[in-house]
Amino acid sequence: MFIYISGLKKSYMSGEVKTEVLKGIEMQLEKGEVGVILGPSGSGKSTLMNILGGIDRCDSGKVLVDGVEINKLNENQLTDFRREDIGFIFQFYNLVPNLTVGENIEVVSNISKSPFNIDEVLKAVEMQDKKHRFPRELSGGEQQRVSIARAIVKNPKLLLCDEPTGALDFQTSRSILKLLQKVNKEFGTTILMITHNAAIAAMANRVFKVRSGEIVETVVNQVTVPAERIEW
Ligand SMILES: Nc1ncnc2c1ncn2[C@@H]1O[C@H](COP(=O)(O)OP(=O)(O)OP(=O)(O)O)[C@@H](O)[C@H]1O
Ligand SMILES: [Mg+2]
Repeated sequence: MFIYISGLKKSYMSGEVKTEVLKGIEMQLEKGEVGVILGPSGSGKSTLMNILGGIDRCDSGKVLVDGVEINKLNENQLTDFRREDIGFIFQFYNLVPNLTVGENIEVVSNISKSPFNIDEVLKAVEMQDKKHRFPRELSGGEQQRVSIARAIVKNPKLLLCDEPTGALDFQTSRSILKLLQKVNKEFGTTILMITHNAAIAAMANRVFKVRSGEIVETVVNQVTVPAERIEW
């Protein structure tokens, strides 16, 4: 999925005070690429990602996803866009506690137009043996693998990851990054990932550096590093 963002602005009001969180974002990501967004806390990374995923709306500017200007969609169209085309992965896995691993994935698969096979996706994240377990019976890394499975089962065109390894140790983080790289290669899914960890940028085709609501630098990596070789 091709992403084109230009002049994107977003403010929040708190009482009488207006805070400009995004001040004219310019960025592009080609279909099938991995992009990484780096930047300090409070710089607007999650706000940008939520607008791109149709969770939030911008005030002005253009946000085109595969040529569709999502800011011009009405609420129903935006819900469809989010449901059909976007997979989300968050720092805290947001699995439904009283559903098993398989059921957590099935809920999403059932409302998708062209979902992948649940067992194949579970196999891809190496969780096929734990299909009947509940989230509380899994480690953090395992829960994150299930949340990746849940995000990719719908066969999304774009996978948005907001600090997917933020709650995990080094080894587990690396296995999650390997998995995301595999999803990108095998399913051709375009991935955009927020991280605080500059080392992770080595696996991206494009790196967007955000400072107080602006992209201050975009780095295009000619060569990307396999996740298993990333060290920090
Ligand atoms: N719903 C909201 N209402 C008011 N202000 C908000 C809202 N959401 C975000 N903000 C403000 O916008 C700014 C950017 O927030 P955002 O969550 O995008 O930052 P971030 O770069 O993702 O930070 P972090 O790395 O800590 O997750 C912050 O100052 C935050 O307080
Ligand atoms: Mg954030």
